[in-house]
Amino acid sequence: MTGVSAAAEHTRTVVVGITGGIAAYKAVGVVRDLVTRGHDVHVVPTEGALRFVGLPTLEALSRNPVTTSVWDDVAEVRHVALGRRADLVVIAPATADALARMAAGLAGDLLGTTLLATEAPVVVAPAMHPQMWEHPATRANVETLRARGVRFVGPVVGALTGDDAGIGRMSEPRDIVEAALAVLDQPDRPDDAGLTTGAAPSLPSGDLRGVRVLVTAGGTREPVDPVRFVGNRSSGRQGVAFAADAAARGAAVTLVAANVDAGLTADLGVEVVPVGSALELADAVRAAAEDADVVVMTAAVADYRPTEVHAEKLKKDAQGDHLTLELVRNPDVLAELVANRRSGQIIVGFAAETEPDRAARIALGRAKIARKPADLLVVNHVGWSSGFEREENAIEVLSPGGEVVRETSGTKAEVAAAVLDLVATALA
Ligand SMILES: Cc1cc2nc3c(=O)[nH]c(=O)nc-3n(C[C@H](O)[C@H](O)[C@H](O)COP(=O)(O)O)c2cc1C
Repeated sequence: MTGVSAAAEHTRTVVVGITGGIAAYKAVGVVRDLVTRGHDVHVVPTEGALRFVGLPTLEALSRNPVTTSVWDDVAEVRHVALGRRADLVVIAPATADALARMAAGLAGDLLGTTLLATEAPVVVAPAMHPQMWEHPATRANVETLRARGVRFVGPVVGALTGDDAGIGRMSEPRDIVEAALAVLDQPDRPDDAGLTTGAAPSLPSGDLRGVRVLVTAGGTREPVDPVRFVGNRSSGRQGVAFAADAAARGAAVTLVAANVDAGLTADLGVEVVPVGSALELADAVRAAAEDADVVVMTAAVADYRPTEVHAEKLKKDAQGDHLTLELVRNPDVLAELVANRRSGQIIVGFAAETEPDRAARIALGRAKIARKPADLLVVNHVGWSSGFEREENAIEVLSPGGEVVRETSGTKAEVAAAVLDLVATALA
């Protein structure tokens, strides 16, 4: 998320739910940050959470009483009072079990009753091992919660408990707080959106006014160990150009930025969601796509990631002269988007092709849009000295039937404008 939310200027009542994962100790940082920013923080841990972090610590930092039970302060009707008073509920960390209970609407403790009693936005920062996060049961629970409007921050790829590493690490406390406070500023209605995203003052056409546009940009990095990754050369410039042009046309833009230089996104005036790996990008896109009217998938997403992420740096002395990295397929985000497309949602896919022959390149694009029927497929001509890390780009745009509906080259801003003209026409 960019910047510190304007919500921090006002005192809000924030309930911080803490559940029983090892990352509970980091939730102390969430509480402290919110209190430091002047908010009235009420911590609701689970019994499991109190095995990881002490109740006196939470009371001292939050400056409010802390309990797990619905049987304390019964006269205050505490089991619903906190939820009703809350402007915002943040759950950090959220265990797999907590997500399952939330999805099922269980109310067996104070956190459960608070969640059922609240109408405030709920922001969840999951933390668990990769297998637990990827398990179909957890995926289904996450989808259920997202469909109900629960927002997710992370998890991210990184070191986990013990020797493990991978997706499932809780986002950093500061990122959780900023993402959560930013939710309070988000418009409910698309009509408001252009105002609060700080869309560029000049509106060349306004033809995307009130439209929610999700853009992905950059290239994912698939960690090998804490210092190395498998990556690609995408700079994010093309995606940033899409975000800037969509905002200038009046759209409310979310930019999922994979390793994009902060200098490129700093003054865009759009919501920026930074991500690192393909799994993080997939999660961010799944979360943002539900509300999006248009999705532009510019990012270069790794098809594969190392099967194992080493918690410590791999040493060449231990590896010898040859090192074999085993890779595993990443989720196909475009295919998922197309399969789950809402009626009326427009999805623009990208195919980065090195094929120099135009006809052969278009044939590759046709095969891709036949496999993954996006509304438009932008065939991007890339190579050692074209496409990546440059200010210019050359594209052919295909319709679902494989017809070339636009062919252009020029600056990345011009390319973005040409594609968004097609999107605006399709929406109209
Ligand atoms: C040392 C340890 C670490 C754990 N870490 C996690 C974790 O990071 N994520 C998770 O989902 N469960 C984790 N668990 C399992 C949960 O504590 C367990 O599922 C518990 O029932 C969660 O309860 P709660 O959600 O009510 O707090 C851990 C358990 C132990 C003993």
